[in-house]
Amino acid sequence: MTSVRPRLVVANWKMNKTPREAGAFLDEFLALAPSLPEEVDVAIAPAFVALERVGRYLLPTRFRLAAQDVFTESKGAFTGEVSAGMLKDLAVSLTLVGHSERRRDRGEADSDLARKLKRLVEAGISPLYCVGETLDERDAGDTERVLARQMTVLDRFGGSPPPGLCLAYEPVWAIGTGRAASPRMASDAHAFLRSDLSNRYGGGAAESIRILYGGSVTPELAPELFAEEQIDGALVGGASLKVRELGEIVKAAGS
Ligand code: PGA
Repeated sequence: MTSVRPRLVVANWKMNKTPREAGAFLDEFLALAPSLPEEVDVAIAPAFVALERVGRYLLPTRFRLAAQDVFTESKGAFTGEVSAGMLKDLAVSLTLVGHSERRRDRGEADSDLARKLKRLVEAGISPLYCVGETLDERDAGDTERVLARQMTVLDRFGGSPPPGLCLAYEPVWAIGTGRAASPRMASDAHAFLRSDLSNRYGGGAAESIRILYGGSVTPELAPELFAEEQIDGALVGGASLKVRELGEIVKAAGS
């Protein structure tokens, strides 16, 4: 079933690929590009140090440059951090906020995430806000409660969504484990998130916001995930490191 929203596939490379390796990937990937469905939006999120190199490759193409994170403040004495303005200067148009690896490993709290969203909005960068439950939370029947709590980060934006907002539903237990959520499970979570969006912004606005699924997406699983009307694309980690696999997932998103 084709989604009413244009599908979006985001490659989250995490801490993989040096700038040189990223260049080699893009030489191959861009050669494949004419065979990919034009109606599917594609974004690549390399490590900060490879953004400039990847951006140079993507500039003449229809593909978008994405970042994996942004700092909570806009400038100043914050050694090692990267601001939204710096990302904008590199033509980044989409940035992840709240990936579970950062919530878990870097102790990112909802208040930090709200500030990151604010910085992105100020810079004119679309946020890709990531939510998802742990296995314990799912087993305890708490999935919707957890998602609802994570969505409260949007409270401080009032009645209209941050411009360009996309969501990614990424159950923590499915990330990098080879154990993806079933299409039904993902679809139910997406429907819950869409009703949350609808309560906030009204049905029309909620219908236009893309909700991606992430967690062990592979070319083999992609067709059944994309058969779900509620799944508007994918946030892909491991499989996005291989040109062929990323290409297959993009193709599946178009069919
Ligand atoms: P994975 O990662 O595809 O390797 O499970 C997804 C993500 O963390 O965004």
